[in-house]
Amino acid sequence: MRKPVIAGNWKMNKTVAEALELVKDLRFKLENVSEVEIVVCPPFLAIQPVYQFLKGSNIKVGAQNCYFEKKGAFTGEVSAAMLKEAGCSYVILGHSERRQYFKETNEFINKKIKAVISEGLLAIVCVGETLEEREKNLWQEVIRTQLTGCLKGFTAEEISKMILAYEPVWAIGTGKVASKEQAQEVHKFIRDLVVKLYDKNTAEALRIQYGGSVKPDNVSILMGEPDIDGALVGGAALEAESFMKLVKFERKAK
Ligand code: 13P
Repeated sequence: MRKPVIAGNWKMNKTVAEALELVKDLRFKLENVSEVEIVVCPPFLAIQPVYQFLKGSNIKVGAQNCYFEKKGAFTGEVSAAMLKEAGCSYVILGHSERRQYFKETNEFINKKIKAVISEGLLAIVCVGETLEEREKNLWQEVIRTQLTGCLKGFTAEEISKMILAYEPVWAIGTGKVASKEQAQEVHKFIRDLVVKLYDKNTAEALRIQYGGSVKPDNVSILMGEPDIDGALVGGAALEAESFMKLVKFERKAK
């Protein structure tokens, strides 16, 4: 059984004070949840204070990015070791906003994944097609290229330090969620690809999150699909009430 993982990607939202307000509420509201892995990914500056506040709770802390070098003259960058020291146990990598606005390539993301997992952190590796690619029926090709590029050179053992996230670009921040059939089709495609690249056991153990306009009213429908193992949530993770509802989604037998 794969344990569902619900992660909030706060993107560039929340000052330290606002971040602490939010997690104060969350800690209290979610203290009895044990069947779902809960992760919050604040902006860099809020990671340490949020971690200090959540220490000992069932809510883990992640980052939204990191650089692959260990240290040195890389102005403005943050290493995996720094994130670990600050209290992170997850790092989101290859988010479509990083690919789109900061021109991150699969090769670059591959190096970051390596850096993150060699520090003992879990990498949340994002893939997903644009609207144009979906309309031209190119999604399989796009996802295959992203995945093979990002996972290049990793062993099956290393794959177990990763979570994959399917985030169709056309569903991010648009309110246009993928249908459960569309999402399940891609998740199954990804899992089958991992079987081909590695083996059945590795693929069966791997968790694949869906991301893109996940809200309290659609989370249960998506999570009921056999290959959807969690959600990576943007907008709905910014308020305690909606994030709590997401984490406490109604579980249906798969
Ligand atoms: P929204 O939930 O706001 O669509 O964002 C999804 C996302 O990009 C999570 O990483």
